[in-house]
This record gives sequence, C-alpha cells and structure tokens, in this order.
Amino acid sequence: MALLEGKVAVVTGGAQGIGFAIAKAFIENGARVVVGDLDLEASERAVAELGGPECALAMRCNVVSDEDVKALLAAAVDKFGSLDIMVNNAGITRDSTMRKMTEEQFDIVIAVHLKGCWNGTRRAAEIMREQGSGSIINISSTSGKTGVFGQTNYSAAKAGIVGLSKSAAKEVAAAGVRVNVIMPGVIRTAMTEAMPQQAWDQKMSEIPMGRPGEPSEIASVAVFYASSLSSYMTGTVSEVSGGRSM
Ligand code: NAI
Repeated sequence: MALLEGKVAVVTGGAQGIGFAIAKAFIENGARVVVGDLDLEASERAVAELGGPECALAMRCNVVSDEDVKALLAAAVDKFGSLDIMVNNAGITRDSTMRKMTEEQFDIVIAVHLKGCWNGTRRAAEIMREQGSGSIINISSTSGKTGVFGQTNYSAAKAGIVGLSKSAAKEVAAAGVRVNVIMPGVIRTAMTEAMPQQAWDQKMSEIPMGRPGEPSEIASVAVFYASSLSSYMTGTVSEVSGGRSM
C-alpha cells in the first residue's frame, strides 16, 4: 500500500517550487491534495499537472488571512472528506540590510511566514484534534538557525516557526496530532534563482555536499513526516541542507 493512501493534505504555497514538489510527492504516495496559494491561476495550472480534480483542488488563499485559511481547510474536508496532513509552506522574501529595510518589508515577511504558519497550524489542529490524528509540517529555513546577512525579517520569522511548532506540538500531542519542522538549506526554486551570482557561488562553497538541493529532496522528507514512518516524532526539526549548517 502507498504510504499516504486515503490521506487528504493541504499545502500552502503549493502552486510552484517546494510546495508543488510536496503536493506531487503526496499524490504519488496515494494522497489527495488541496493546493492553497495567493496565485489562483498558477494553482490551477499546478492542479492540472498533478492529475486534475480526482486527486487535487486549487484554492486561492492568503495565509495571512484567518478567514482564507479556514475556507481552505474546509474545502479539503468538503471535497475529500478529511484533513490528515497540513503543510505550512507559503513564503516570500524581502531581503535588505537593517539600515535600509522598511517597516513594511519587515512586517510582511513576519506576517506571511509566522502568522501564516500560526493560522495554518492552529486551524488544522482544530480539525485534527476532533479526528484524533494528523500531521502538521511547517517549513522553516536554515536562515532561522544561522542568520543571514540582509534577512533580519526572514531569519526572525523562520526561527519563530521552530518555537511555534514546538509549542503547538506540546499542545496537541495528547490528541494524536504531530507537528514537525523541515529546515531547508539552499534549494533550487524561483526564490533562489533571484539571487545574485556572487551570493549563489558563496553559498555553494559552504555546502559540504557541494550542490544545491532539489525541491523533490524536501518533498521526500515531507512524505516521511506525513506518513506513519515518523509516528513517534513530534516537535522535531530536520535540516535538509547538504550539511551546510550542521
Ligand atoms: P517560491 O517563491 O517558489 O514559492 C512560494 C509560493 O508561495 C508561491 O507559489 C507564492 O505564490 C506562494 N505565496 C506567497 N505568499 C503567499 C501568501 N501570503 N499566501 C499563500 N501563498 C503565498 O518559494 P520556494 O522556494 O518554493 O519556498 C517555499 C518555502 O520554502 C518558503 O516558506 C521558503 O521560505 C522556504 N524555503 C525555501 C528555500 C529555498 O532555497 N528555496 C530555503 C529554505 C526555506
């Protein structure tokens, strides 16, 4: 039997990049997936690529909005019958040194990552508590562990996701719900393609495995956390970084 047979997942920011790879891997392992993303057209294209309405559904969702997140999760239950896996993946960057960063650049990054993750975690937990089971997977970044020049906003949000997830894990463990964190290093997506060549070369030189990660290499860890292979794991953080920040 496939690892996620009969399971229903929601992936925020699932229209492209890491979120899309996670949705694809979930479906390959037997799950049905609701892709929630700010960009509805991109989500609809993603759903077509994922196999269409039998196994996937596109929803427009801004993770900063509690109403949007509630509607996203309700759609998963309405269309596919349950909510077993929640991946809080949606993200943005607004890099700038502290000297130049605007308050708006700080606030929006904190809102999308940290509040978005909190909205998704607590609303998913409400449904999963009732079910007595569920796996919540929150996407942090090694930037939250080591700090990165020009990312005071992003590093703060990504470190915050670790604390949020551990606290949530303690609150919901007794109800059979697990909360874990994936901390990717440098992964080849639109987010990192925007990086200047010099910064990219510098990052590559810091990776013991000598290469960037692929979105599929984050997705396989998400499958592990979503499935019963990790049934005794909660509140954990997995660095998936080619050894960059060990
Ligand atoms: P991406 O930029 O390729 O995709 C992000 C997706 O999130 C897009 O589809 C976008 O429309 C969506 N999104 C943005 N704001 C949203 C909002 N408010 N509500 C709903 N959806 C929204 O990014 P990528 O690289 O796939 O990143 C995914 C996650 O992985 C992010 O949380 C990012 O911080 C994290 N990450 C990425 C790394 C990398 O090297 N690419 C490294 C470490 C963490």
